[in-house]
Amino acid sequence: MKKLGNKAREIISRDNKVASPSLTRPYELVVDHAEGSTIYDVDGNSYIDFAASVAVMNIGYDCKKVKRAVCTQMEKMVHCGFSDFYAEMPVKLCEKMCEMTGYEKVFLSNSGAEAVEAAMKLAFWHTKKNSMIAFYRAFHGRTLGALSLTSSKIKHKEHFPSLHVLHSDYAYCYRCPLNLEYPECGISCAKEIERTIFKRELSPKDTAAIVVEPIQGEGGFIVPPPEFHKEIRRICDENDVLLIADEIQSGGFRTGKFMAMENFGVRADIVCMSKSIGGGIPLGATLSSSEIMSWHPGVHANTFGGNLLAAAGGLATLEFMESSRLGEKAVEKGRYLMKRLNELKDKYPIIGDVRGMGLMIGVELVEENKAPATEKRELIVKKALDGGLIMLPAGDSVIRFVPPLIIKKSEIDRGLEIFENALKTA
Ligand SMILES: Cc1ncc(COP(=O)(O)O)c(C=O)c1O
Repeated sequence: MKKLGNKAREIISRDNKVASPSLTRPYELVVDHAEGSTIYDVDGNSYIDFAASVAVMNIGYDCKKVKRAVCTQMEKMVHCGFSDFYAEMPVKLCEKMCEMTGYEKVFLSNSGAEAVEAAMKLAFWHTKKNSMIAFYRAFHGRTLGALSLTSSKIKHKEHFPSLHVLHSDYAYCYRCPLNLEYPECGISCAKEIERTIFKRELSPKDTAAIVVEPIQGEGGFIVPPPEFHKEIRRICDENDVLLIADEIQSGGFRTGKFMAMENFGVRADIVCMSKSIGGGIPLGATLSSSEIMSWHPGVHANTFGGNLLAAAGGLATLEFMESSRLGEKAVEKGRYLMKRLNELKDKYPIIGDVRGMGLMIGVELVEENKAPATEKRELIVKKALDGGLIMLPAGDSVIRFVPPLIIKKSEIDRGLEIFENALKTA
């Protein structure tokens, strides 16, 4: 049983004085260092990491190749102002991303929200239209443009002005918003965009893009049925609207493929990536075709996009992901984790649903009447931490299972043991 140590207590009290209180900490973990899939806190306690620092550390915490690449670049030159000058390292990163995705142009930035802002501006610029459609429970970031698309929690949006974005139902089959059953529903949720929004609220002539997460992350790890994204793609094609895929959490081989949309056989017009592609170094990327990404100099640029350290770290991360076949590992370990979680579901009625792809798995916790077990979820996450397992919540009552893709089977087993003990307590 881990207890909050003196060092952690002291740092938290200093943090409370100076760090913005807007940050959302689900529990009191003060990290010190990490190895593989294990994090150590400042008081010497160790934790198995089922959160990968919010789906960022897909490569694990001590990837020698990435560390070496960043250190070598650090010795040479840290930053160059890629918006104003040329440099080979960011070019190599863009080339690698194009090779891995088939897109032709890349805009580099520093975070997920920035990748989304660039995608939004690009879609508005290219189509000369002024509105967008996103989905309920979507999370696309907290800057004002991205926040307009976000619809996961109302407290994220209160008091902030919004761009013109309408929201539609996502295919959340466990709690179908239309009270229908898959597959008889005929993916009615997607069809609502044409049936209602385009007819009554927003003309496709004013709709620059539909923005979608391949699997909803923060909203509750919601995996739509196979036809959902194909239907959204068809609606975009038939109405001359762009499709933007937000791969910020689902990309980077987390679901087995480099881009989660590949699992659905759908290609978006613009793709946003971040989180895992930097291997822990801040990096965002917005990708598209040469035809769409043809905006003029100055229309969009930034100071740190193409930063040399981030580019070196990103390139080494992508190369490592490919050479160590992280996609295959995600599928194989995800299958095992899913099987074990389904066994727990049979044993504990609080587990209402287990869903996911690769190592992007969510467990939805419910009361007897299927109401979201939000308080019990908080308790379980805290108990797991006390037992030495880091997990993070998502949605109303979901716990996400997004460990580093290099995690060992023995670590999954140990983590599940701790999770089961926490379940028993709840
Ligand atoms: C799907 C998705 N889009 C965008 C973001 C925002 O990324 P950032 O926090 O780096 O701005 C997140 C963050 O969790 C995300 O999951």
